[in-house]
Amino acid sequence: MPVPGPGYSITLRVEAPPSASAAGDLAAAVGRAGAVITAFDVVESHTDRIVVDITANTYSDDHVRDITVALEALSGVAVRKVSDRTFLIHLGGKIEVSSKVQLRNRDDLSRAYTPGVARICQAIAENPDDARRLTIKRNTVAVVTDGSAVLGLGNLGPAAALPVMEGKAALFKKFAGVDAWPVCLDTQDTDEIIRAVELIAPVYGGINLEDIAAPRCFEIERTLRERLDIPVFHDDQHGTAIVVVGALRNALRVVGKQLSDCKIVVCGAGAAGSAIIRLLLQKKPGDVLAVDVNGIVHPDRGDLDPNLAWLAEHTNNERKSGSLVDALVGADVFIGVSAPNLFGAEAVATMASDAVVFALANPDPEIDPMEAQRHAAIVATGRSDYPNQINNVLAFPGVFRGLLDAQANGITDELLLAAADAIADVVDGDRLNASFIVPSVFDSAVAPAVAEAVAKAAAKR
Ligand SMILES: NC(=O)c1ccc[n+]([C@@H]2O[C@H](COP(=O)([O-])OP(=O)(O)OC[C@H]3O[C@@H](n4cnc5c(N)ncnc54)[C@H](O)[C@@H]3O)[C@@H](O)[C@H]2O)c1
Repeated sequence: MPVPGPGYSITLRVEAPPSASAAGDLAAAVGRAGAVITAFDVVESHTDRIVVDITANTYSDDHVRDITVALEALSGVAVRKVSDRTFLIHLGGKIEVSSKVQLRNRDDLSRAYTPGVARICQAIAENPDDARRLTIKRNTVAVVTDGSAVLGLGNLGPAAALPVMEGKAALFKKFAGVDAWPVCLDTQDTDEIIRAVELIAPVYGGINLEDIAAPRCFEIERTLRERLDIPVFHDDQHGTAIVVVGALRNALRVVGKQLSDCKIVVCGAGAAGSAIIRLLLQKKPGDVLAVDVNGIVHPDRGDLDPNLAWLAEHTNNERKSGSLVDALVGADVFIGVSAPNLFGAEAVATMASDAVVFALANPDPEIDPMEAQRHAAIVATGRSDYPNQINNVLAFPGVFRGLLDAQANGITDELLLAAADAIADVVDGDRLNASFIVPSVFDSAVAPAVAEAVAKAAAKR
């Protein structure tokens, strides 16, 4: 059953008779149609009619049509207009550039631009490190995509990826004061992407790769890390891995288990799953079983690309084969970054006692969280309408704040683990419980804590 949410929020402008029961009738009709009213404003009042704006959370275009039909079935009621509030906030884009300096007169102009700026150019030419001191480089990140894996929607191309990249840039600014700018490349060729990022790198203090499909994303990140002297971070990989490892640390505190004793099943061995496994292995868990669309990953599978071959070699101590359901038997932890609706409560019942289930496929998790709760001690999802939301926003703003502050030129696993610990530590012992293993994305303590931990780890390199 779909749930109405703010991502599908609409405002209906409705004309109705001015009777005493009009408001109640309208609200009841919208409610019966399954929408959640969030605002009700009378915008015009006349002797023969009123005009109201009803704002409501819905779940689809069909649902909006049903609500309109339900309203127009009322005597004397007409729906004049339906506005989609999500489209409205995207009109003209979500970010802009603004000047930090005053440009009021010729004097200002001569210093901010020619002729004064020439001396700044010469200073940087003589000492390239001054670019961090005298330009936007010190606080600016490129959010680079080829549009090949946009959210869970697939290969939509660079233009359709732009609303996501703009949103990401807005989050960077809001949560960490980082100036990020979308760079949507009109190519999906690995070498061209690498070259394009190399060519634009002088402007930026860091590169955030975003929504680039696996396995291409692995080679792009690896090569750019070798070639550039600024940090390169693929958020779909490492942002996810940081938050998952931090959340798992707190989940295991709640159930009283040690990671070194745990058997962990990671379903999904793409961008997110591979990075989660690689980071988890740094913490020496009991065992990890990687599972993908073809079942448990093991060395004899015969369909292994270099990434899967690496996973096969470093996981699955007992060289098991089989399906996801086979992998779950006796497992302490399930981490899903794969596909919707893969198993039910009966499979969770075969896991070890006090099982931890992170079903993170978006928007629909690997298992319905209500089903998972029947047998699991802790359930987390990627969704904001359930407790324990695993959301990269907890990681990437603070990570880049720390990297920029430290003027870091690279990224290490220690730095990622420091970020994971910082997120976990924001939830102190008094607040930690099965429904609160990660802080809220709006907890203002998170980004500074992550930034400090990352800057410290970067300074140790
Ligand atoms: N909540 C979060 O924080 C978060 C973060 C990252 C990714 N995700 C979600 O995780 C999912 C995967 O993201 P990705 O970027 O790694 O994608 P990806 O395409 O790189 O990898 C997907 C993986 O899932 C596997 N898979 C697909 N269908 C499967 C099935 N039926 N059974 C088992 N495995 C299956 C594939 O073999 C592949 O290994 C998406 O739904 C994404 O939205 C959530």
